[in-house]
Amino acid sequence: MSQERAECGNLPKLLQQLGADLDQYLRFEHHDAMSNEYSWKAALGGSLPQQGIACEQLLEIMGKHLIPNGSQVPKPGCTSFITTGATSIGVLASLSGTVAAPQRVGLTAFNYLEDLSLQWMAEMFELPSAMKGIYSSGGSVANLVALGAARQWAFEQLGINVAEDGIPRACRVYVSSACHRTIHRAAAVLGMGRSALVTIATDKNGRLSPQALRQQLQADINKGFVSVAVVASAGTTDTGAIDPLCEIGEIAADYQTWFHIDGAYGLPGILDPRIRHLYDGLSLADSVIVDPHKWLGAPVGIGATYVRDRSILYRAFSQGAADYLEGACHDDNIQNSMHSMGVPYHDFGVELSAPSRGAVVWALIREIGKVGMQERICRHNDMAQLVADLAHKHPDLEVVQEPTLSICCFRYISPHMPDLNALNKQIHRQLVQEGNCIPSTTIINGILVIRPCFVGARTTEKHARELVDAVVKAGNKLLANTSSC
Ligand SMILES: Cc1ncc(COP(=O)(O)O)c(C=O)c1O
Repeated sequence: MSQERAECGNLPKLLQQLGADLDQYLRFEHHDAMSNEYSWKAALGGSLPQQGIACEQLLEIMGKHLIPNGSQVPKPGCTSFITTGATSIGVLASLSGTVAAPQRVGLTAFNYLEDLSLQWMAEMFELPSAMKGIYSSGGSVANLVALGAARQWAFEQLGINVAEDGIPRACRVYVSSACHRTIHRAAAVLGMGRSALVTIATDKNGRLSPQALRQQLQADINKGFVSVAVVASAGTTDTGAIDPLCEIGEIAADYQTWFHIDGAYGLPGILDPRIRHLYDGLSLADSVIVDPHKWLGAPVGIGATYVRDRSILYRAFSQGAADYLEGACHDDNIQNSMHSMGVPYHDFGVELSAPSRGAVVWALIREIGKVGMQERICRHNDMAQLVADLAHKHPDLEVVQEPTLSICCFRYISPHMPDLNALNKQIHRQLVQEGNCIPSTTIINGILVIRPCFVGARTTEKHARELVDAVVKAGNKLLANTSSC
């Protein structure tokens, strides 16, 4: 009997089983994967199988050994990363696309939602009305695409097509020390080099200083550098700080330099009316990114880049004609979804094959609407503020950076401990070991802080309170152990 098969007809039953196993996972009653590493490695590993097994049998193995040994990231108490557990509708929409539209091209309902969902996000986050977007795998690629557009545009002003001829002159990209490291990588990949990045001083709240930016731009232009982009953050990864977008955008315009805003994490914060004014300079941006797989609760693998004029993306990223691709579609006398590629997304970024991400974002927004998104953003921002309030009131806690968005940076303090960084590092280790509250740590001006970032749809006020209690308890215990030694 042939080992090869492509079943049809058994998906409902298989999905029911998979659904039950995933639901069980989301109860988080299982042990951490590292506690029984040998057992799942033995069950899943082995040498290359020569013969196959039935789908049902494989699913059983997955339910027993794979799924329960997944990551801690979807836990409601896990606040360490800015990516989180996907919401159920995100998972279901993603699965629908995997089965029914494994490519985003073609005149299908999935292709239609690619554009519509990008438009919905642009409207929801108040982007300039002319801005159009493209999905990619996340913030790393979204930043790369934006800076690729900036690089193309900057050299076009000098009559040079870098996409064709490469970079002939040294470039500059202006960032703050708090910008995400994917900007550095993008500069490296785009041939500008990491050394093209110029780090501009920040104020005490970690926001890029406009005065320092202006001085640096002037000095570099006098030296003959090509200023490719000024990068501002609408929500830094470490603290959630929002750079002064308006002032930075005006300076970028004064020096005819592309203005990019990294809103991978923080762009949805614009929905919180209490901080809406911090986003005023959005209208000046030439490119903006946002990651639906962060605050919007999409499965990991979805970022979006917006630019004012999508033709710049075509000039920067078009892969050129490929006979087999053009041969698959005709665009004349369209009567069939395969007669056209639809929007040529494959020429606007770095991916040819790509999943139908638009359906996921459409479903996330369609499920709870702008109002639901707003409630989530405000709820999470409140939770960061709650941590700050509790820390302010507690004699053994200190807020090191007041929250702007849904991140609060605080630490345990004690006059009896000379090395508070070491103490807080140990506290963090303890929390991770216990496994209920899992924040990350970061360093602010040399101070190691506990850093929860609240973005998970399943994360509630209870988890914020539990985290503060857990930090106090772990700190007290470590202190007691030290004094008894
Ligand atoms: C501000 C910011 N930009 C970019 C990224 C990179 O995003 P991704 O991990 O989706 O590639 C992150 C990730 O946390 C981020 O916080």
